[in-house]
Amino acid sequence: MTQQITNLAEYKETYQRSIDNPEAFWEEQAESFSWSKKWDKVLEWDFRKPDVKWFAGGKLNITENCLDRHLSSRGDQVAILWEPNDPDNDVQSYTYKELHAAVCKMANALKANNIKKGDRVCFYMPMVPELAIGVLACARIGAIHSVVFAGFSASALADRIKDASCNMVICSDYNARGTKNIPVKAIVDEAISMGCDSVETVLVHRNTGDDVVWNDIDKWWHEEIYDQSPSCPAEVMDSEDMLFILYTSGSTGKPKGVVHSCGGYMVYTCYTFKNVFQYSDGDIYWCTADIGWITGHSYIVYGPLLAGATTVMFEGVPTYPDAGRFWEVCDKHKINQFYTAPTAIRALMARGNQYVDKYDLSTLKVIGSVGEPINEEAWNWYNEHVGKFKIPIVDTWWQTETGGIMITPLPGITDTKPCYASYPMPGVQLILVDSEGNIVEGNDKEGLLCITFPWPSMIRTTYGDHERCRQTYFSSFDNMYFTGDGARRDKDGRYRIIGRVDDVINVSGHRMGTAEVENAINEHENVVESAVVGYPHDIKGQGIYAYVITQNPVSDEEKFQKEVRDVVTKVIGPIAKPDIIQITSGLPKTRSGKIMRRILRKVASGDVSNLGDTSTLLNPEIVEEIKNGAKV
Ligand code: WT7
Repeated sequence: MTQQITNLAEYKETYQRSIDNPEAFWEEQAESFSWSKKWDKVLEWDFRKPDVKWFAGGKLNITENCLDRHLSSRGDQVAILWEPNDPDNDVQSYTYKELHAAVCKMANALKANNIKKGDRVCFYMPMVPELAIGVLACARIGAIHSVVFAGFSASALADRIKDASCNMVICSDYNARGTKNIPVKAIVDEAISMGCDSVETVLVHRNTGDDVVWNDIDKWWHEEIYDQSPSCPAEVMDSEDMLFILYTSGSTGKPKGVVHSCGGYMVYTCYTFKNVFQYSDGDIYWCTADIGWITGHSYIVYGPLLAGATTVMFEGVPTYPDAGRFWEVCDKHKINQFYTAPTAIRALMARGNQYVDKYDLSTLKVIGSVGEPINEEAWNWYNEHVGKFKIPIVDTWWQTETGGIMITPLPGITDTKPCYASYPMPGVQLILVDSEGNIVEGNDKEGLLCITFPWPSMIRTTYGDHERCRQTYFSSFDNMYFTGDGARRDKDGRYRIIGRVDDVINVSGHRMGTAEVENAINEHENVVESAVVGYPHDIKGQGIYAYVITQNPVSDEEKFQKEVRDVVTKVIGPIAKPDIIQITSGLPKTRSGKIMRRILRKVASGDVSNLGDTSTLLNPEIVEEIKNGAKV
């Protein structure tokens, strides 16, 4: 059984032990899982390469730990409880036994379609149980899954399929979200037509049953699993074999495939799930994230199933049929742990208290937040209207690259404070440095957040480009992992995340590279150059502000703005659409030609009072024009 910390003294003792002797600590945790062969060495590492191996030589299959291991003790317990988009449709549930059988059938279907250990399988699906089943089926046979959030456009999907040379794409026919019915399969068809030559099969799950165009490489999910056996031996994987790829944005134009491996990811996601949510047997746990993001991987699928939990999957959106949906579902399924994003909290808060106050939320024991800083107002509202001042809020800080929760209060164990992710998990060794890499000592200080020692679920590489992984995370400061975030350590040692210090913005909890959005905008035929920055947005946390230089004068600005937004929707997806577009004749640049984003960020945030010294700019005169044209 995974160890669970139960009180403050134990947290302090465990934390100390975990950093005094990390190997011994994580070895103890790893022993609670089933391995077909024990590891030879707990940890080997060199951050300079980077090269990190956890439980090297150990052999396992993560699905045996998610499924088979639970069959005798909790085979008839619900593993996945699925709440449909339309509240009038039926709930679906899979017990551990049923999920095991469904995963095995699908695993056999994958094999029958030529998928082998090491092949890459791309998922582009709505939040249906088949997505979790498909992902686990890949893990069962050692195929590497790459889930792409179904809000991305065909061209963004194609880029990700090509980057990983995926052998198969798995999708649904349509995606029912609120009142929309999104033609997922048609988007996959479009992506495939963009030169995804590696794809041999598209497997289509029938979801809404609406008509789809059929191609030679398409096969129906239900037909492929029909005759398959409900048992499938688990592929024996090395602890360091790849488990999955998940694409995320960085400061360059091209998203990178973050790679996680089997053993360490298993140990860390299970340990953090049990401890951060204080999950106990019989609890019903709900994380509202999408499996297209890391939160869904680690805390809808793997973490909860490894811990033998009942995990709820929700197909819909928070505001359909009305802004009370989350609370209605909490009431209906008697949710004990609820985990969501600040942007959802802010959006629901704005709709009024009547939607939340009418539901019985008395079963809740822990409520969580993830993805971006939660502002004080939203934290207070969550505390009052959802937690009724009685339930701890866990503000969890982590990243796609960290694989699991790194900084968080432990509910009922450590204290909570608005805006503070607070304390490191056991095994997590944090440090603040200044821009030169000098260690910032003592409390009540700010700095760049780095991690000085490996943790089991850390990124291993960026798919197909290891040097990029080194450059991005391990080259800024010697012998440390750099998070890209700035943070403050308060007088008692709690951490508050301030936000990204690189050219990455966080829109509604979705990470976006400004360069990526710029590249998309630049595809508009009348755009010569653009610069994108984030600005404070009441609901989204950060909104997207684009400064655009055009080739020819724009006569109909409204039309132009719509076209720019359409181009971005086409290249990346609707989540990357700029909120504000300002046409300008130039961008402030340094003499070396670098855009001075500091100035653009200030103007976009409505603060033109003190733009600092602009006299060293190549084109200082442009600043006045930009200030005067500001749209805030
Ligand atoms: C970035 C990572 C972790 C899963 C979802 C996002 C920001 C994340 C918090 C938090 C303040 C947070 C950071 C981080 N972030 N959680 N609790 N407080 N900021 O994963 O897309 O990889 O983004 O999200 O800036 O670096 P991601």
